[in-house]
Amino acid sequence: MWPDDAGLKRVHEQLSSLPPLVFAGEARRLTSALGDAAEGHAFLLQAGDCAESFTDFTADGIRDKLRVILQMAVVLTYGAGVPVVKLGRIAGQFAKPRSSPTEMVGAEVLDSFRGHMVNDDLPERAARVPDPDRLITAYHQSVSTLNLLRAFTKGGFADLAQVHAWNQEFVASSSEGRRFDAIAKGIDRALRFMGACGIDLAREDSLHEVDFWTSHEALILDYEEALTRRDSLTGDWYDCSAHMLWVGERTRQIDGAHCEFLSGIHNPVGSKVGPSATPDDVVALCQRLNPERVPGRVSLITRFGADHVETSLPPLLRAVREEGHPVVWVCDPMHGNTINAEGGRKTRRFDDILTEIKGFFQAHAQEGTWPGGVHVELTGDDVTECLGGMEDIVEDQLHQRYTTACDPRLNARQSLDLAFRVAEFLRD
Ligand code: TRP
Ligand code: MN
Repeated sequence: MWPDDAGLKRVHEQLSSLPPLVFAGEARRLTSALGDAAEGHAFLLQAGDCAESFTDFTADGIRDKLRVILQMAVVLTYGAGVPVVKLGRIAGQFAKPRSSPTEMVGAEVLDSFRGHMVNDDLPERAARVPDPDRLITAYHQSVSTLNLLRAFTKGGFADLAQVHAWNQEFVASSSEGRRFDAIAKGIDRALRFMGACGIDLAREDSLHEVDFWTSHEALILDYEEALTRRDSLTGDWYDCSAHMLWVGERTRQIDGAHCEFLSGIHNPVGSKVGPSATPDDVVALCQRLNPERVPGRVSLITRFGADHVETSLPPLLRAVREEGHPVVWVCDPMHGNTINAEGGRKTRRFDDILTEIKGFFQAHAQEGTWPGGVHVELTGDDVTECLGGMEDIVEDQLHQRYTTACDPRLNARQSLDLAFRVAEFLRD
């Protein structure tokens, strides 16, 4: 893929000598938190951009994305009555698999954009040439993103009372939001109840901080390998580019390079699972990635589409349960529901997203398995990329603020709307 072999070698050496982004002990703590989600005692919220961008990179953008995720997490914690594991698709999500190596831009055929870690999205031939120095830029952008996330989540920004106050604003600011008044009031009452029982809410550290983890698709193995290090405590290998890594629907072959890589690291790992996966495939994948059957080691992120989830998912749930593999079942309601709007813009309907989640919950109820979490593409920005939601974005409005570097994302209000609805499913 890289035209510049010598450049790639130099970059690989440089990355190998740079400090890790995360520490092996953190990855182990995440495995343990996900183990709770595998066993029905926690719920996973994995969320962030489809693709992070080198050009659209600001402190405010990171803050606003984190804010939405925290707001969703509070609502889900209340709905599920179990801890919510907060996992960003962030600080490393820079590479995109493409279904076609080329794309038409106007009258010209250009190499496809593969994410800012590889090439540039400008509609020019030269911009599409893969440049290994982009791996270094991705590393540094990930470092500064993670640094700010750590500051925010441990420095007061994640304060439960504050996050709850933001949610109350949301509930008060629209007529549709009032539908969720009962949940917001319930959270209010729960906080007052704890205070009344003598718990000093101001002094309880757990109410002011959260653990926030990072994840991305492990697509560019040159990058992932260079950041893989041996843990001095255990002697095990960890990919220190993020806490959790996953393989996509296009790279999850059992004997492929990507599964080989994931099987060698000790981080929690995941795989996307789409309509082409048979029960045997999925069981083989579990066996390949988690022969020791460690709960929390493997998450299966299913993406069937609203129309297929109810028929396609139950056989997989059954097969994995019968084999006794502990996995976190995660619903990705985004990627099976992408459509082309008029004018060719990719979009998704809020209602389809919700329908897939509903089908996911129903399938689990039917099979007696635990719906372990959701995986969504969102942004804190006020974009118009997905249709519907309480502001009811319609096709004519998509062009107004359509800024994604890849797939269409839920905006802040649509994300919160979704969280309240998922909380209703969890509560029922
Ligand atoms: N620390 C707890 C948790 O992570 C409670 C909490 C504090 C919280 N601030 C939060 C939960 C913000 C969600 C969002 O669950
Ligand atoms: Mn995507």
